Amino acid sequence: DSQVVDTDVLIVGSGPAGASAALFLSTLGVDNIMITKYRWTANTPRAHITNQRTMEIFRDVEIEDQVLAEATPHHMIGDTVFCTSIAGDEIGRILTWGNHPARHADYELASPSLNCDIPQTYLEPILVKNATMRGTQTQFSTEYLSHVQDADGVDVRVFNRLTGSEYTIRTKFLIGADGARSKVASDIDLPLEGEMDIAGSMNITFKADLAKLVGHRPSVLYWVVQPGSNIGGIGAGLVRMIRPWDEWLIVWGFDISQGPPEVTEADALQVVRNLIGVPDLDAEITGTSLWGNNEQYATHLQSGRVFCAGDAVHKHPPSNGLGSNTSIQDSYNLAWKIAAVVYGQADDSLLETYSVERAPVAKQIVTRANQSGREFGQLFEALGLEPGQSEDEMHAAIASRKDNSVEGARKRTKVREAMELKNYEFNAHGVELGQRYASTAVVSDERGPTPNPRDPELYYEASTDPGVRLPHVWVGDSRDKHSTHDLADYSRFTVFTGTTGSAWEDAAREVSDHLGVGIDTVVIGPDRDTTDLYFDWDRVRGIAEDGAILVRPDKHIAWRIQTLPENPAAELRNALSSVLGRD
Ligand code: FDA
Repeated sequence: DSQVVDTDVLIVGSGPAGASAALFLSTLGVDNIMITKYRWTANTPRAHITNQRTMEIFRDVEIEDQVLAEATPHHMIGDTVFCTSIAGDEIGRILTWGNHPARHADYELASPSLNCDIPQTYLEPILVKNATMRGTQTQFSTEYLSHVQDADGVDVRVFNRLTGSEYTIRTKFLIGADGARSKVASDIDLPLEGEMDIAGSMNITFKADLAKLVGHRPSVLYWVVQPGSNIGGIGAGLVRMIRPWDEWLIVWGFDISQGPPEVTEADALQVVRNLIGVPDLDAEITGTSLWGNNEQYATHLQSGRVFCAGDAVHKHPPSNGLGSNTSIQDSYNLAWKIAAVVYGQADDSLLETYSVERAPVAKQIVTRANQSGREFGQLFEALGLEPGQSEDEMHAAIASRKDNSVEGARKRTKVREAMELKNYEFNAHGVELGQRYASTAVVSDERGPTPNPRDPELYYEASTDPGVRLPHVWVGDSRDKHSTHDLADYSRFTVFTGTTGSAWEDAAREVSDHLGVGIDTVVIGPDRDTTDLYFDWDRVRGIAEDGAILVRPDKHIAWRIQTLPENPAAELRNALSSVLGRD
């Protein structure tokens, strides 16, 4: 009991939020301990779609290759099928995750990295391994019990499940990345909006070789509309690929008002056979679990030295694939700020911008994911499925979309419209890349947001508005090609300018020395640090060649200035001091 262990940051949880926080902090050289309740990482596949924003973060911390090596690649995940069963009638397909040729350009243009599919059972070990190799003290079978914070730190009581003993970890900061039933979030009384357990879902994992049924229409998602598909769950029955094409997960809804059903192996096998549409399918059931669909988010993510990230602050169904992605992006936002405070580069007030910047994202993604689930309703309606119908009536309604009649034609149009609506779940590029922060860690300018001429949920619009993510373009020279993101290191701030803005180099050096904060300058121009190979930077930079864009470690834009001022060092120092809470 007298044992006390000291650290700078204690992370509770080794899921996507916790393990990535550990990885980011260790990459930045911040002393940290990660504790997690169980013996190992996630034991079920869970989240899988890994979007471009997350992949570029992985690229930044140099694990993108390791992730791609374990992932199903972008081009194999997007021929998303809607059917009455996998072997049965196909209702239609939608090209997803940017795989439509007309959308693919948007994805290619927006980021150096493409999305991919990696189940949590494969991703978490990569995060934990790299975090631990870079310095994290990882403690499995260790449970968070409680904490008390004072002016200088937090005393955290933890329980070693192997020895049955308790001890105290003294830490400067505590991150609760302990999932949807977060004890840390409840101990600091984070304010929550919305409801938990609004619908019931059952996961069934199984092994069966379905290559012949799906290999010609490769996707991670096969949506099944048949009797029962519109009860509970995540919009419709889902057959989800874990590994092509012999490991699978089914998500099937149940009526939560009836309480949790008992699911025997025989029941699970029956659901599998129904959805695959092969009555005697040889399938090995590897697991079943029940879970509740949630629509809840925290409106504030911090109390003093304690922060929550991930599902602890946003709880929602898997629709849009935002859970793990947003969790990792939360930690990416938080970790550099903690590092800046630990290293004495920033005032503690910088830490408050985590909540200010990420709470709106929590709300946005919880709302988006739930709306996407509900939008399946339009497909059921188009097909003529209604509550209270018998199974025969439902089969007949689904089949009547084939009728050679005016009614049949009308139905076919409605089905197409309902399918198009699903772009908001499967091609929501603007939701994924268009996050815009407004806080004291961003110096806004008078120009206001660059208008997005297209639907901002579906389409990302590159700009250098303060608060948005740095636009990606390829730059380099005759030997090398880099993304602009590659030139902005996670441990530093970066100033981007052009040839006539070369004076920013001296200014940045001066401010860097003065504030004790790393600042790199990248001068983009022929024969400078890097060349605007395709003239794309010139198109997107949104300032004059001699202006400057100050990029934060997390690749969001902190400040920009249109042209070279009389005293660039003074302007830069003012901006950066304000971002770091030092003015
Ligand atoms: P996460 O829940 O992953 O991690 C919490 C961590 O905290 C764990 O390591 C746990 O051991 C630890 N912990 C909890 N309490 C603790 C304590 N008191 N002390 C110490 N450690 C503690 N998403 C999706 O996009 N597609 C999907 O198909 C699914 N499917 C799915 C299935 C199931 C069964 C679940 C539970 C969840 C999903 N999800 C999902 C959601 C997705 O898994 C989720 O968004 C991310 O895992 C969130 O990551 P976090 O790191 O925030 O929490």
